[in-house]
Amino acid sequence: MLILGIESSCDETGVALVELNTAGSAQRPVLRGHALFSQIEMHQAYGGVVPELASRDHIRRVMPLLRDTLAQAGCTQADIDVVAFTRGPGLAGALLVGAGFACALGLALDRPVLGVHHLEGHLLSPFLSADPPEFPFVALLVSGGHTQLMEVTTVGEYTLLGETIDDAAGEAFDKTAKMLGLGYPGGPALARLAESGNPKAYKLPRPLLRGEELDFSFAGLKTAVWTQLGRLPEGDVQARADLAASTQAAIVEVLVAKSLIALKQTGLKRLVVAGGVGANRQLRADLNQQCARRGIRVHYPELDFCTDNGAMIAMAAAMRLQTGRAEARREYDFNVRPRWPLDDL
Ligand code: KG4
Ligand code: ZN
Repeated sequence: MLILGIESSCDETGVALVELNTAGSAQRPVLRGHALFSQIEMHQAYGGVVPELASRDHIRRVMPLLRDTLAQAGCTQADIDVVAFTRGPGLAGALLVGAGFACALGLALDRPVLGVHHLEGHLLSPFLSADPPEFPFVALLVSGGHTQLMEVTTVGEYTLLGETIDDAAGEAFDKTAKMLGLGYPGGPALARLAESGNPKAYKLPRPLLRGEELDFSFAGLKTAVWTQLGRLPEGDVQARADLAASTQAAIVEVLVAKSLIALKQTGLKRLVVAGGVGANRQLRADLNQQCARRGIRVHYPELDFCTDNGAMIAMAAAMRLQTGRAEARREYDFNVRPRWPLDDL
């Protein structure tokens, strides 16, 4: 069974094909092809994502990306068995492009469609790697819009353990990067600048880092960075790198500490890190070190599949279909869910 996945929730258009072997039900779905277009360059001029421009660009990109994906897999449209798309959460207009396209294609080809939860896509993205995790595990979901710790029992069984009460971890990276004049999206740029800085140079807050608390708060960090920034001598390159390193250290320390508490509380020995911030090298190094000490295995998606992509959507659809958690239907009167809690699934 060939499952097409379409992602359009924010500023990346992603299309992918995953093959599910329906005869051997234990077999892992296999990625057959994927293509991605990132709109980052277009939004950079505005310092952030402009929703209307994002929607228009998804419309322009999705068809060429589909052609590219089909060519990679050596398939034609007629070979597609199920069309999956991101139903939410995300930008309403952007989601509508993917949903509308998926449903039109499903109708034209007479194939069933399936709406997928974007965060479930991130959660299951490590199953696209050569060494996938086994259930159950704790998942640290860190993207531009979300910061959550989940207990994942199996496909579709997700218990929220903790989440941010204000900014997401990616947002904290992006906002501090913006203050430092690093452009959008700031995460990777801040991480790069941090490499030449001293992470202990500035004392920044580690909010909610006490007891067994599993919720996060990153809004205070912005204010603290802003205050420090105001005191920096003009043109002091090293001080800016130090501030970037100190900011990254504060975010990473909180993420690592809370992941360890969640692992201790659940008694689980596996951690899956997903979402854009999962690409952060410092986070990976610290998690690896702390988890190795405790006999915990950490799984990451491949770097390409940390940030938004179509492969994770096709994979999540395949795994839901495989486990009987969802059914694709010939129902083309689509709706999208810009706000959609994962434990609502
Ligand atoms: O998962 P994602 O692509 O999109 C959402 O669903 O939000 O995550 C994007 C976020 C952005 O905030 C970006 O700055 C952050 O991930 N990010 C990073 C790194 N790469 C991406 N943050 C820190 N270090 C990185 N290397
Ligand atoms: Zn995402």
